[in-house]
Amino acid sequence: MRQKIVAGNWKMNKTFQEGKALTSELVGMINDEVRGNVKVILCVPFPYLDTVRSLVGQSSRISVGAQNCSEHASGAYTGEVAASMLKSIEIPSVIIGHSERRQYFAEAGVLLAKKVDIALANGLTPIYCCGEPLEVRERNEHETLVRKQVEESLFHLSAEAIQQVVIAYEPVWAIGTGKTATAQQAQDMHAVIRQHLAGKYGKTVAETITILYGGSVNAGNANELFACPDVDGGLVGGASLKSREFTDIIKAMKA
Ligand code: PGA
Repeated sequence: MRQKIVAGNWKMNKTFQEGKALTSELVGMINDEVRGNVKVILCVPFPYLDTVRSLVGQSSRISVGAQNCSEHASGAYTGEVAASMLKSIEIPSVIIGHSERRQYFAEAGVLLAKKVDIALANGLTPIYCCGEPLEVRERNEHETLVRKQVEESLFHLSAEAIQQVVIAYEPVWAIGTGKTATAQQAQDMHAVIRQHLAGKYGKTVAETITILYGGSVNAGNANELFACPDVDGGLVGGASLKSREFTDIIKAMKA
């Protein structure tokens, strides 16, 4: 059975005080209401990581993730945060290659492969994001592009290492737009990704890899999306900022 995950991506939102309040509300609601073995990851801004981790406490269900890390180990890189720093405050996962990083910070291919490597070397789970912009889907080249994104940043990994990675498929046109992919579109692309993984690593390995869907997931569409056989959970932006809605999304993931 693949691990089911619902991850919240706060992006650059919430003050410290608001973030603490949201975390406390979420911990209460999740502990009271969520059953099964779905895991929840709160991907919060760097300055909040240590505090949010303390607020989450010893929960076996909820953990905390970062939204990015440097490709470098350490040194003179002003403003950057190293994977080893995340490890040193016991953060177990990190989003890598989010489409906003690709779009606004020109992150791509080889650079993202380095970030994946350094995250893994520090024992972190990379949540590797891929997904096509609208014009690529309109040209019907979305499958080719997503296969390439997976290939260029992940296919150098060993079969053992790739099984430590979580993949998030997030069509760019669905992120923050309120326009979600249909369950069929999500399932189709997840199946394409899994087949691609199977082609490289074999079916058994591909079957173990968790693939999340992201892009305007909300309490209204989560049930249908999460019911798809190759959708193993969600990466949730806007709706993860509201405790009631995020908890309802987590409850939609039957695991
Ligand atoms: P959204 O963001 O849920 O607000 O569309 C998803 C993401 O960017 O991870």
